[in-house]
Amino acid sequence: MRKRFLAPFVLSAFFFAACGGGQKSGEQASSSNATAGQEGGAVDTSMVSPGANAPVAKGKTLIDDQDCKTCHKEDTKLVGPGYKEIAQKYENNDKNVETLADKVIKGGSGNWGEVAMLPHPSLQKEDAKEMVKYILSLK
Ligand code: HEC
Repeated sequence: MRKRFLAPFVLSAFFFAACGGGQKSGEQASSSNATAGQEGGAVDTSMVSPGANAPVAKGKTLIDDQDCKTCHKEDTKLVGPGYKEIAQKYENNDKNVETLADKVIKGGSGNWGEVAMLPHPSLQKEDAKEMVKYILSLK
């Protein structure tokens, strides 16, 4: 009677321990993976100085979410000028960020040729500025 009562108890205690141990190492493995992933993701932001990196990274994300890439590439001219060309043409200052952000929102042509950029009226001005800051940082 006593033996039959104890056996399952001992057994389940053993399983508990085994399970708990397994879970713990599993957690450790996955959390170290997550850290590695974060480090990987942080690579491009760590290439810029800490002061500049946050807004610039935000601008890049915003651009990636928009249709910009159908007309713009970083290095080469597509329908519109390459981002690096734009960065070379304009100094990275508040006035240019302001003007170019307006241009992104309103669209237009004339600075690079006859082809017009489509307007992006749904963009927030602040977001457009973040995008332009990112573009002008690509020198
Ligand atoms: C339909 C194609 C098209 C799309 C989409 C597009 N652009 Fe353009 N973009 C152009 C063209 C064409 C020009 C050159 C306009 C000119 O000559 O003034 C240009 C110019 C620019 C300029 C420089 C403006 C100037 O006056 O020198 C910036 C900055 C820019 N685009 C950013 C963006 C961003 C950010 C997006 C996404 C929100 C975007 N573009 C989407 C075609 C496009």
